[in-house]
Amino acid sequence: VKQRRPSAQQLGAFQKLITQTFGLLYDDDKLSTLEEVLMRRCQRQRSSLEDYLRRLPGEPAELRVLAQELTVGETYFFRHGEQMGAYLEEAVPRRNAVRGDRPLQVLSAGCSTGEEPYSLAILARLAGLAETETSFLGLDLNAASLQKARSGRYSLWSLRETPRELKERWFLQQGSDFVLDPSIVSSVEFRECNLLSAAPDLWQSDRFDIIFCRNMLMYFGQSQARQVVQRLVRSLAHGGYLFLGHAETLRGLSDELELFNSHHCFYYRKPPRGTRPGHSWSARTPGESSPEPLPLHCSETLDEDWMETIRAASERILRMSHAPELPSPGEAPGLHEILELQESERYGEALAALRTLPPEVKAQPETVLLEAVLLVHLSQYHLTEQLCRQLLEGAHCAAGAHYLLGLCQEGHGQQQAAVAEHRAAVRLDPSFAMPRLHLGLLARKAKDLPTARRELEQAMLLLQGESPSRLRLYGGGFGREALLDLCRSELQALPLPGAGRRRR
Ligand SMILES: C[S@@+](CC[C@H](N)C(=O)[O-])C[C@H]1O[C@@H](n2cnc3c(N)ncnc32)[C@H](O)[C@@H]1O
Repeated sequence: VKQRRPSAQQLGAFQKLITQTFGLLYDDDKLSTLEEVLMRRCQRQRSSLEDYLRRLPGEPAELRVLAQELTVGETYFFRHGEQMGAYLEEAVPRRNAVRGDRPLQVLSAGCSTGEEPYSLAILARLAGLAETETSFLGLDLNAASLQKARSGRYSLWSLRETPRELKERWFLQQGSDFVLDPSIVSSVEFRECNLLSAAPDLWQSDRFDIIFCRNMLMYFGQSQARQVVQRLVRSLAHGGYLFLGHAETLRGLSDELELFNSHHCFYYRKPPRGTRPGHSWSARTPGESSPEPLPLHCSETLDEDWMETIRAASERILRMSHAPELPSPGEAPGLHEILELQESERYGEALAALRTLPPEVKAQPETVLLEAVLLVHLSQYHLTEQLCRQLLEGAHCAAGAHYLLGLCQEGHGQQQAAVAEHRAAVRLDPSFAMPRLHLGLLARKAKDLPTARRELEQAMLLLQGESPSRLRLYGGGFGREALLDLCRSELQALPLPGAGRRRR
């Protein structure tokens, strides 16, 4: 029997229940995903919509299924290498120095399939800590992800950012799998846990030395994010460190921690007992010795307009989610080679290879996106536009699609329309560096110098944390350093802001 579609009221009730139970916020433009899951689960359970929705809050087994359906588990080893550097060179040594004879306690909240806590465990070993001197805990809502985490078995895709020496030292290749060293697997405990649920044994105050909670809060509603952050802050030791995802911030969620900046990344520290939070900006570069980060107030070092831009961007991202935009080579044979051709700017060959893929692979949104990227580089703007509209209609890869539409408009010489598309991309994903870079370049052309400066500065900041896969896809053959150099030279070419520039 064909499942009836839910009414707006039923869908609204489901949406609310999901946000209240798991924290996950589905904006109105993502309701089609929720609707599809709701209809499928009703059909599976042979329940009417009314019955399903009435019973759902009291059905933990069904809620667990929904958690597995609705969470985004994108992760990989040594994700955001700059933060890994700050963890290794700043957080671990400082907390190790004060831990006494208890183990260093590290939490990965929202650990997905385990790559994050395992990376932290490997790095702690590199810092000279023995297994008995550390305790790693990974928490996640998704039971299937945790099961995979416990197996310690990964595909090459999970190791895409893992340096070769670490891969060789800590993984054993078995067929196409990479099996993690058993001493690392046994050093991490995994626990199924909804971070919104009370678990008094877990959230004791001052328990953890270091907490990673990355790329989870950005999927949350504001009040649920605040609730989780309060819990994390309470259980973080004084002097302990909190790392959020590179596009996430505590603004509007907590002012109890101080912000640090070193190793080209941001992170937080709970002030040592008896001190109050200030914003601390360490001017240290990686590899230097590790002095106490300088306690400077941020307004002394940063332009406040710039801070405001980051704040606004960060708040927006808390209300949004974005899907990983690159296909896994393991899942789509042949794509790896196409990406390599694309990276070496052999767009025609890449397009020809892409067109030989099986139809079901070609129809995947990620492949459509890749085709659109290739076409835009071949100046085939009308075809690119068709594919982007197709993606947008299906609500897939929307930020990327708008960015590519922006490039098409630039190609047509339509500067204003290009700005509108790039802005749409930024609205959908404030952590996306490339549209910011183009907004900066377009503003410079239009002689709007304050906007040019702001966008280029923001692009520089975001480029430092931009994911390698997204850089490969959208960087137009330029690597991170080349794009950063471009921003730098564009910024240097701008006239300095006038002495009478307004400061808030
Ligand atoms: C995108 S992954 C992030 C993985 C890893 N932290 C990283 O940055 O690579 C987000 C994870 O948060 C988990 N999650 C979402 N809501 C949660 C909740 N209420 N409680 C616990 N985990 C949750 C999801 O299951 C998913 O595995």
